[in-house]
Amino acid sequence: MANGTDVRSNIVASQIDLHKKYGGVVPEIASRAHIEHLDAVIEEAFSEAGCEVGAVDALAVTNRPGLVGALQVGVTAAKTLSWAWKKPIIGVDHIRAHAMSPMIGLEASPWPAIGLIVSGGHTSLFDIQSTTDIELLGATTDDAAGEAFDKVATILGLGYPGGPSIQRAGDAGDANAIPFPRTMLKHGSLDFSFSGIKTAVLYHVHGNGKTTGGLEKLSTQAIADIAASFQQAVVDVLVKKTMLAVAQTNRSTVVLGGGVAANRLLRESLKTVCTDRGLGFHAAPMPYCTDNAAMIAALGYHLLHGGATSDLTLDAFPTGSLV
Ligand code: KG4
Ligand code: ZN
Repeated sequence: MANGTDVRSNIVASQIDLHKKYGGVVPEIASRAHIEHLDAVIEEAFSEAGCEVGAVDALAVTNRPGLVGALQVGVTAAKTLSWAWKKPIIGVDHIRAHAMSPMIGLEASPWPAIGLIVSGGHTSLFDIQSTTDIELLGATTDDAAGEAFDKVATILGLGYPGGPSIQRAGDAGDANAIPFPRTMLKHGSLDFSFSGIKTAVLYHVHGNGKTTGGLEKLSTQAIADIAASFQQAVVDVLVKKTMLAVAQTNRSTVVLGGGVAANRLLRESLKTVCTDRGLGFHAAPMPYCTDNAAMIAALGYHLLHGGATSDLTLDAFPTGSLV
């Protein structure tokens, strides 16, 4: 990577098919699949990049936040290779890496910028001053946006993961059909809350106070309308809060990253609002929205050049370093 944004290969071993039938990630299965696929993924990454071990400057590995069992597999493998190949190792916070993902492929650095990072476990607004200087402005107080997509997809009997299946179902629906709540919390707050809308969808489907019995009575069109209206409500909140962060900080650029950044309505809505207001806007390229190696390497590059390497005591943590 010449400037931390030039990707030679980005191999993703998707586990979606393994977890689909359970409607969510099963930690034990996830760790096991990491062990089974890691060797082949590393080999493929070298072969697609067309490079040998000798050309590697360092190994970057995510060690937080996430499922510790799965993280531990990656960290142990990276530590072993670091020792065997005599290359430095760099532990990377994967949410910080999501925040860096919009810069992949850009000629010039987009910082400073407001970053909206939306994933299955996080929904956060950051003031990003540089690749390593990131301040948390607000975060979800309950469910993350991606988690809400996943839970609502389960309520609607749509497939896992919820984000893509809600988007697909919503394409045939009316986004104005149901006025789901847009929770903004107290005046000026940059925090989020998505548990209310999840409950609103649940009761809309089954009837007030009920949690079963309603889905079978809904037509495909009714489900499409709920999916589209839910998606619109979540995107409205995300866009509004991002503009609030811009107003409070006077930043002139917005970046978007994380799994939910793959959502078409969110990408288009944020782009339109930013263009209307004369703000710069960079969404992570689609391959770098959901969890991926390139964003870990991109941040790892900058940490390496800033001298922030780790050592063989590197450990995995369920929580992030941004608080
Ligand atoms: O960043 P990510 O791959 O993993 C975490 O760090 O959590 O994000 C996964 C999340 C899931 O909740 C998934 O439903 C959501 O990203 N997602 C989407 C879309 N594609 C993935 N949400 C909305 N629309 C999408 N197109
Ligand atoms: Zn992620």
